[in-house]
Amino acid sequence: MSSTTYRVGIIGCGGIARAHARGYAKVPATQLVAGADPDASQQSKFKTSFPGLTMYKDYREMLDKENLDLVSVCTWPPLHAEMVIAAAEHSPKGIVCEKPMALNLGEVDQMLEACDLHNVKLIVGHQRRFDQRYVEAKEALKRGEIGELVAVYGSSGGDLLTCGTHTIDLLRFFADDQPIKWVMGQIQRQKWGRIGFSTKVYGHEAEQAAVGRFEFANGVRGLMEQGEITLGGSTPWRRHWFVTLEGTEGRIEVDGDPERGGPPSGWRIRRSGEKEWEVHLIENPPNAIAREIAELIRWIEEGGDHLLCGSSARADTEVLMAIYESARRRGRVNLPLKVFDNPLIAMVEAGEI
Ligand SMILES: NC(=O)c1ccc[n+]([C@@H]2O[C@H](COP(=O)([O-])OP(=O)(O)OC[C@H]3O[C@@H](n4cnc5c(N)ncnc54)[C@H](O)[C@@H]3O)[C@@H](O)[C@H]2O)c1
Repeated sequence: MSSTTYRVGIIGCGGIARAHARGYAKVPATQLVAGADPDASQQSKFKTSFPGLTMYKDYREMLDKENLDLVSVCTWPPLHAEMVIAAAEHSPKGIVCEKPMALNLGEVDQMLEACDLHNVKLIVGHQRRFDQRYVEAKEALKRGEIGELVAVYGSSGGDLLTCGTHTIDLLRFFADDQPIKWVMGQIQRQKWGRIGFSTKVYGHEAEQAAVGRFEFANGVRGLMEQGEITLGGSTPWRRHWFVTLEGTEGRIEVDGDPERGGPPSGWRIRRSGEKEWEVHLIENPPNAIAREIAELIRWIEEGGDHLLCGSSARADTEVLMAIYESARRRGRVNLPLKVFDNPLIAMVEAGEI
């Protein structure tokens, strides 16, 4: 691995920025040197947790002054496009943008263009592809332990952009990033949902429940459910990012995120003809964000590809937007999607929902 030290700056020093800082701390080739946040109390809490940083109110000033090799964009989604484009214009080696990549495909394409133009490697924070339980389940699938993949299912709480982006990204991961042919979806949005979400999440319009059915180019079927229609709550392992893989010769289930202080999560497999599940619990999983960053450095230095590259996150965004578009058209939507704004926002603004 690298003998270079990568200078890192973080834009937006809130919750997920702390996870990024802890991730960088585990990757010896990187050194977190600066953070930018207009909120003075966020700045001072961040500096106390991660001493020695130069803090800025204005992220553009940080970009101008710090000669950064890597930039993490950890703000709310409406700011991701503007900030990734501004960071790309300073030609760092890599950018880690938090999920969801952006609010619509138009913004996503502008981000990808800016990164191409300035030769910047862009990844998006769908770190679950590096979470050990999904990694092990995928390895078992690739070994053919459940035969050929037939169908994938995933669910979590939350809205499509905030949480569904992880769900679709995981389902595409298990389907080897095959292109998706069509999407059929529906959403439920009301002023106050059953579990009290307002209609805005992270500064953008959101729904309280969504469902999306789709088909990959190789015929594998996908189904994702989000928000208050999922089984969730009473069965903790089904809460957030529970996944099932149905094969011609068996089935794999991957637990959702473990509860803090609760039992470890893992995955289980039942091959054709077996009566019992074979359970694999994972006690101390490696840090997935550190893994995604280490892989970014490998990508920068050796080339090839990254599981979380910007074009993969574009494919995730396309499915999320197609679910909204399907709800708007009341029908199946064939991909590639030719809609570059956000259909949910358009429906809200038109008073249609
Ligand atoms: N990958 C994951 O599993 C995961 C988990 C949680 C959150 N996220 C994502 O991370 C993003 C941030 O979420 P969060 O929970 O950390 O939010 P947060 O509110 O805790 O932090 C956002 C920070 O951005 C700052 N900010 C606002 N405007 C800014 C500006 N102009 N310049 C610089 N900073 C600015 C705010 O002051 C705040 O400190 C969201 O897109 C969210 O979806 C990802």
